[in-house]
Amino acid sequence: MAQDKNRIIIFDTTLRDGEQALQASLSPRQKLQIAMSLEQLGVDVIEAGFPISSPGDMEACRTIAQTLKETTVCGLSRCVEKDIDACYEAFKGIDHFRIHTFIATSDIHVQDKLKKGFDDVLAMAISSVKRARNYTDDVEFSCEDAGRTPIDHLCRIVEAAIRAGATTVNIPDTVGYTFPLQFGHIIETLFNRVPNIDKATISVHCHNDLGMATANSLTALSFGARQIECAVNGLGERAGNCPLEEVVMAIKTRQDFLNGLYTNIKAQNIARTAQIVSGITNEPIPSHKPIVGSNAFAHSSGIHQDGVLKNRNTYEIITPESVGFKENNLHMTARSGRHMIKACLEKLGYHEGTYDLNDVYARFLRLADRKGQVFDYDLEALLFFSHDEEEDTQFELNSLNVIAGDKNIIPTASVKIKIGKRLRTESGTGNGPIDAVFNCITRLTGIKGELTAFTINAKGSGMNAQGQVDVDVKYNNRQYHGKGLSTDVIEASALALINAYNSIYRAQIIEKEKKEEE
Ligand code: KIV
Ligand code: ZN
Repeated sequence: MAQDKNRIIIFDTTLRDGEQALQASLSPRQKLQIAMSLEQLGVDVIEAGFPISSPGDMEACRTIAQTLKETTVCGLSRCVEKDIDACYEAFKGIDHFRIHTFIATSDIHVQDKLKKGFDDVLAMAISSVKRARNYTDDVEFSCEDAGRTPIDHLCRIVEAAIRAGATTVNIPDTVGYTFPLQFGHIIETLFNRVPNIDKATISVHCHNDLGMATANSLTALSFGARQIECAVNGLGERAGNCPLEEVVMAIKTRQDFLNGLYTNIKAQNIARTAQIVSGITNEPIPSHKPIVGSNAFAHSSGIHQDGVLKNRNTYEIITPESVGFKENNLHMTARSGRHMIKACLEKLGYHEGTYDLNDVYARFLRLADRKGQVFDYDLEALLFFSHDEEEDTQFELNSLNVIAGDKNIIPTASVKIKIGKRLRTESGTGNGPIDAVFNCITRLTGIKGELTAFTINAKGSGMNAQGQVDVDVKYNNRQYHGKGLSTDVIEASALALINAYNSIYRAQIIEKEKKEEE
């Protein structure tokens, strides 16, 4: 990637480091929706997953790479041949992709985790970078736990990785241990001591265990780093990764201090992307979260309000509009035509051809009939759900009926599901209406997962809200996630469970195909 010396490459790892920290893994379609919004945000590189880790991750990486047009898609691999080959398997046929290979370099990781010597690690790094270079000319190498790696070792392995062909070398503070100046000094030392350092882009990947991920990443820029690895809303292992929105807005807001450094991120898309990621991952955004929290631009005290009314800059260093918070002014009702819906989707960044307008419009009308007014977040959710349904869906809710009331009534449900091409009905009872519906779905699908989490959230506000139900289901030692959206929370619950069972069904098919191939 040809790079001007002031441009900071934004490498997003929401779908890899972020996803690995979630309670339940995301489906390939959920990952694709996040990837599409990251591309609209202007992210340079998306780490789409860890292809060797599961068939679902492999599929997600492949689909994302086939769909995105501007953003470079990257897959993670350990310094192990089969991992690197799996990345190639996911990306073969794609014009441009990145393989990111990593190995731990700190003494504690090398000795206690890998049970090796540093020279073995060095040799594995070199051969892995070379192997990845046979597949692509965009290879990133990471020294895991670089923040705690002896500096002589770090200099040696960075130099060797670049000599072997790494075009980006990433310096992670894996456990969020360093302080900003200390981390900056590590980067400075690498620039002073590694003779071929100018042949690669130096990247940083800071975890937030001591709340210093953003400060460490920004400090590294002042010492020469030109790629920041980060995740939307700061998702990531333990306390998370460096939040994308924070580094991007800090760079934009303090160009004076950073001597003109800039990113290609379209800041007006930040709020929307944060909300999409939060909705799909089921990870709420804390209200006080910098940049994207609902309170991030609220002024509460009288003195502050008075100041802002006189001059916004008294208490506002960034405007809410600059990151895309806006009043909702789209009035979409059942009277809206297909052109209006197309225009609204276009405004939200979804171009015709990436979705099926007929399908979305039909579903929009059904929703508008029930809800009166439809908002942009509803439309986006419809788009996402229609994407989900375009998949090879085995189970589809056809209708449901419940009887429930006070303690004198036994909650009873009757559920009709389309299974493949056949319609089947089941009735049953439960300790509540949702339990009764779930019992019917379990019997109809023949899948008996363990429900490990169930949440209901209102999407939208007041009378306009829709219920979003998220379920986590454990099946054969793997976690699956399902989501359902409806004005009726019982229907939303049924849709969520069916959504999770479709993922289980697909995973079983992929597993079966894999076994047959072996
Ligand atoms: O935190 C870390 O060190 C990582 C590497 C795989 C880059 O996530
Ligand atoms: Zn990490």
